[in-house]
Amino acid sequence: MGKTHTITLIPGDGIGPEVTDAVVRILEATGVKFSWERFAAGAGAFEKHGEYIPKELVASIERNRVALKGPVTTPVGGGFPSINVTLRKKFELYANFRPIKNLPGLETRYPGVDLIIIRENTEGLYVGLEHEVVPGVIESLKVITEKASTRIAKFAFEYAAKHGRRKIHAIHKANIMKMSDGLFLRCARDVSKGYPDIVYGEHIIDNTCMQLVMNPYQYDTLLLENLYGDIVSDLCAAFVGGLGLVPGANIGAEASIFEAVHGSAPDIAGKDIANPTALLQSAILMLHHLNEAAAADKLMAALEKTYVEKKTLTRDVGGSAGTRAFADGVIAALG
Ligand code: NAI
Repeated sequence: MGKTHTITLIPGDGIGPEVTDAVVRILEATGVKFSWERFAAGAGAFEKHGEYIPKELVASIERNRVALKGPVTTPVGGGFPSINVTLRKKFELYANFRPIKNLPGLETRYPGVDLIIIRENTEGLYVGLEHEVVPGVIESLKVITEKASTRIAKFAFEYAAKHGRRKIHAIHKANIMKMSDGLFLRCARDVSKGYPDIVYGEHIIDNTCMQLVMNPYQYDTLLLENLYGDIVSDLCAAFVGGLGLVPGANIGAEASIFEAVHGSAPDIAGKDIANPTALLQSAILMLHHLNEAAAADKLMAALEKTYVEKKTLTRDVGGSAGTRAFADGVIAALG
């Protein structure tokens, strides 16, 4: 009789509830035992509890230390602060880990991509310190600290060393932001000295975007501060078929939240057409984190089989099946 894992579940909004339901059903078909503590967050939570992030949700993550999260809509240009950014800061989920790898059977413009994106998750421009100096002039503060930059660089090099990755590039704009990005780079460079077997390089962010599109194979692991990591993750998602596919994990010392790279996709919400693969691959990362490697491998094999057979793929990847039918397909492939 295996252990029951109690997981905080945040279905989110937009396509969040649809992809979360699909993934929960698939996870339960793996044979691993889960107990879900389900919470709303964002606008939905405010309507019900008068809080964007209910206290019970925070207490649940503190207790369980692992959450699976769907996307949550963030209002543009005003309204409440991003729930994602707030949770990442609150639980010091300092490392945003996003592997970018092709699925077998799914043809994309770039076959055989295998990139790891490691994004600093707690500071940079995402500290949200903006104010109006005088009418018509806004200041937005980019905060880079030695502590957070060293911590994320160590995470990247430790990950690379453990998983046989060959190269790390720190991505920056230290030619312009000489102090802030300069500090980020200096920390990465210092940490790199402790890992002589890993090739260390530095590329400027704008050039990196061009280099990635020309030849993504030249990179292995990218280490980025918060904003560059956000943008480059979406760019790299396109190499392997788009945002419907790419997983993510927000990792801290006390808790980890597993969520896809994509947002709440209001353009396709409620239509049973969203692709749950990105959240499913995030759930596979979660299974590894829970020391359920056998179930993670079995689920990955079922997902790969679903893509190779192409019978129940969603429309963003050339199929015509709905979110629920895709989940049924993966469950059937689990055998
Ligand atoms: P988005 O990622 O929601 O959508 C971008 C495009 O990708 C859309 O055309 C959408 O239909 C497509 N797409 C995304 N996920 C898909 C899936 N699973 N299957 C098929 N197609 C998919 O980005 P957008 O529109 O910029 O953001 C919408 C909202 O989501 C915003 O409020 C934003 O703040 C929020 N957001 C939340 C995140 C989170 O909760 N972690 C992350 C990113 C954005």
